[in-house]
Amino acid sequence: MTIIDGKEVAASLRKEIAAEVADMTAKGAKAPYLVAVLVGNDGASQTYVGHKEKCCAEVGFRSTVLRLPEETSQEQLLAEIDRLNRDPEVDGFIVQLPLPGHISEQAVIEAIDPRKDVDGFHPVNTGRMVSGLPSYLPATPDGILSLLRYYKIETAGKHCVVIGRSNIVGRPIANLLSQKGWDCTVTICHSRTKNLKEVVASGDIVIAALGKAEFVTADMIKPGAVVIDVGITRVPSDKTKSGWKLLGDVKFDEVAPKCSYITPVPGGVGPMTIISLMKNTLKAGRKEIYG
Ligand code: GUN
Repeated sequence: MTIIDGKEVAASLRKEIAAEVADMTAKGAKAPYLVAVLVGNDGASQTYVGHKEKCCAEVGFRSTVLRLPEETSQEQLLAEIDRLNRDPEVDGFIVQLPLPGHISEQAVIEAIDPRKDVDGFHPVNTGRMVSGLPSYLPATPDGILSLLRYYKIETAGKHCVVIGRSNIVGRPIANLLSQKGWDCTVTICHSRTKNLKEVVASGDIVIAALGKAEFVTADMIKPGAVVIDVGITRVPSDKTKSGWKLLGDVKFDEVAPKCSYITPVPGGVGPMTIISLMKNTLKAGRKEIYG
């Protein structure tokens, strides 16, 4: 059994991106420029955006965080998005989710110019992805693909069972793994799936992305399966300084011994998502997808 080391893979890809940025700027091009928009005071979002800013600096990107107050109206946010869409200096930008309840996330996502949508959330990008056209891929699915690639995990002809059908993880990863080059036979399970245990137990590759802590137990896993855990549930803990710890969607201690490969939480898929954002920002800087 191999524990997939997301930190190691992320560090390796970060170096590759930094080398490409250095090469680009040595040839006189500007470093890619990413803007992150943060509305309100959500603690987790502030942490994520801080990590993104730090990673940008590490790979040599320019970056800015645009902090807006909790009371920002949807209209005001849409006006900022319009400004970023039109600013030729800005290669790509993200609006950190979740947004305050009075703002429609869908309206915000659809207001972003698809050419600058480095989160890959705009319907133009998801549509292009599903059609197998070049697009900005959403971070978590792309991170999973990078892990499979790095560890040379065979996917062709394998039965991949995805648990969870979210727009940002379950459905895109299911679609991508069914495409040419990955060639999985894919099943998506969700809250209405019948015989979920049996379906999951038939998976050669199981991707748990339902957001329920320790949902996947050893009896649901075929011996030798590859298990990718996308869950990140915060639970109170008296053993950590912060007072909480992260749990995945997989009961790691009992599932790991049955697997060929498994991702831990934290340190599996998590560290990869920022790298995917960096990959998209590099593509945006090079005008690689839309010219
Ligand atoms: N909130 C949690 N993950 C993400 C992400 O990948 N992008 C954005 N914009 N918000 C998030």
